[in-house]
Amino acid sequence: MTLTRRHFLSATALTAAAISIPAPAVLGATKEKKYRVALVGSGGMGKNNLYSAITTKTVETVALVDVDRKHCESGFEMVKKNTGEEPKLFNDHQEMLEAVKPDIVIVATPEHWHPLITIDACNAGAHVYLEKPISHTVNEGIAMLKIARETGRTVQVGTHRRCSTAGIAAKKYIKEGNIGKIGMVRAFVHYTAWGGKDKPAPDVPTPEGLDWDRWCGPAPLVPFNPKIHPGGFRQFLNYGTGQLGDWGTHWMDMILWIMDDQEQFPSSVASSGGRFLWRDNTDAPDTQSALYRFDNYMVEWEHRCYAGNAPEKEHIGVYFYGTKGTVHIGDGTWCVFKNQNKDAAPETPETPNNEGNIQVLWRNFISCIENKQKPICDIEHGHRATTMALLGMVSLKLGRSIAWNGEKQTIPNDPEAVKLLSREYRNPWKYPQ
Ligand SMILES: NC(=O)c1ccc[n+]([C@@H]2O[C@H](COP(=O)([O-])OP(=O)(O)OC[C@H]3O[C@@H](n4cnc5c(N)ncnc54)[C@H](O)[C@@H]3O)[C@@H](O)[C@H]2O)c1
Repeated sequence: MTLTRRHFLSATALTAAAISIPAPAVLGATKEKKYRVALVGSGGMGKNNLYSAITTKTVETVALVDVDRKHCESGFEMVKKNTGEEPKLFNDHQEMLEAVKPDIVIVATPEHWHPLITIDACNAGAHVYLEKPISHTVNEGIAMLKIARETGRTVQVGTHRRCSTAGIAAKKYIKEGNIGKIGMVRAFVHYTAWGGKDKPAPDVPTPEGLDWDRWCGPAPLVPFNPKIHPGGFRQFLNYGTGQLGDWGTHWMDMILWIMDDQEQFPSSVASSGGRFLWRDNTDAPDTQSALYRFDNYMVEWEHRCYAGNAPEKEHIGVYFYGTKGTVHIGDGTWCVFKNQNKDAAPETPETPNNEGNIQVLWRNFISCIENKQKPICDIEHGHRATTMALLGMVSLKLGRSIAWNGEKQTIPNDPEAVKLLSREYRNPWKYPQ
């Protein structure tokens, strides 16, 4: 269904259009503005991505798609306020692709929808800026990569930490051999916040203006629950991929990027965890560890959604442990911990800030579309990082370790585990091949 302008300009629409993005500098139409962009999933991160794209003055926003009318409307207000443009509004991405034929589609829905929208956009001739994790199951990611290559479309994934000055400086420092040989890498996310997790939230009638059946899409249809939408889907495994998929994909990407001179696939994965404290109606683990065995090093993942990490002072990020020192990369920060010997790593170099990771990522995306090059967070990198996270979830669900053949992208001699590399789709949607 196309949401008409008239529909949009109802009194309720105007009052509901609160925008959380800080007021930017006025950006009028410019000569450089030439890529016709459509946003699919006009929620928190979708608007953030689109706003960043607008600030680079490389786009004209032609359409917004969301199954929640309120989110379409707040996206419209944000675009209008910053550019004066009035994008068309839709709740069905296929109708939008047909009607508008955008040059670029931003995919920022929950991950159970990423595969179909990305594949449809590539097949319609659009380049794609795709949020992480790229897929909900591993075989969807394989299909997405295949279609991106077959159609020759540029697909940039939103793992923007590759563009952070902290990440770039830390990678250079590690690559120069300053921390010696690395045998272990540990990524983690520990939250202190603990509110609302002690009891379930009841299902309620679907809010007006939300097409809940389409929100659930290829995933199971359940009664509407305010813990799922907006934003809460991450901790519901029908739609999200838990903390490991949500946050872990970022850190797995940093690890694969920084360790790039070594092999890119783990040969085995073992994960355990559980819901030890959460008593609400989410179903993702509140506590989880995962171990990935590479030929020359181990990767460890750990999260707990409570208690922070006061003893280590860092509650988020990744440690690279080397023979001469340890590097920590956090959320926009990095530092070196020197070993206590004469062969210790040098001090942390000064690192200036840049204009913002997503702007840098977007400029790289546009330049790669123009020069037909692979972007910095190409879909293949996004797929590999997502696969790391998803294999951890497969092992957790099975309650045992699994092997991984990265060349063939399968779990060898283990039909029970292979089943979890795909999922059933609800009619009428078809699992991508
Ligand atoms: N790269 C990053 O740093 C980063 C940060 C936050 C979120 N994300 C990713 O962005 C994605 C969205 O997360 P969010 O926090 O913005 O969630 P959100 O719930 O705020 O927004 C998702 C939006 O998608 C809409 N939607 C659902 N199905 C749709 C469909 N079929 N067609 C159109 N719209 C549909 C929802 O109504 C909602 O408005 C997730 O994949 C998340 O992992 C990435």
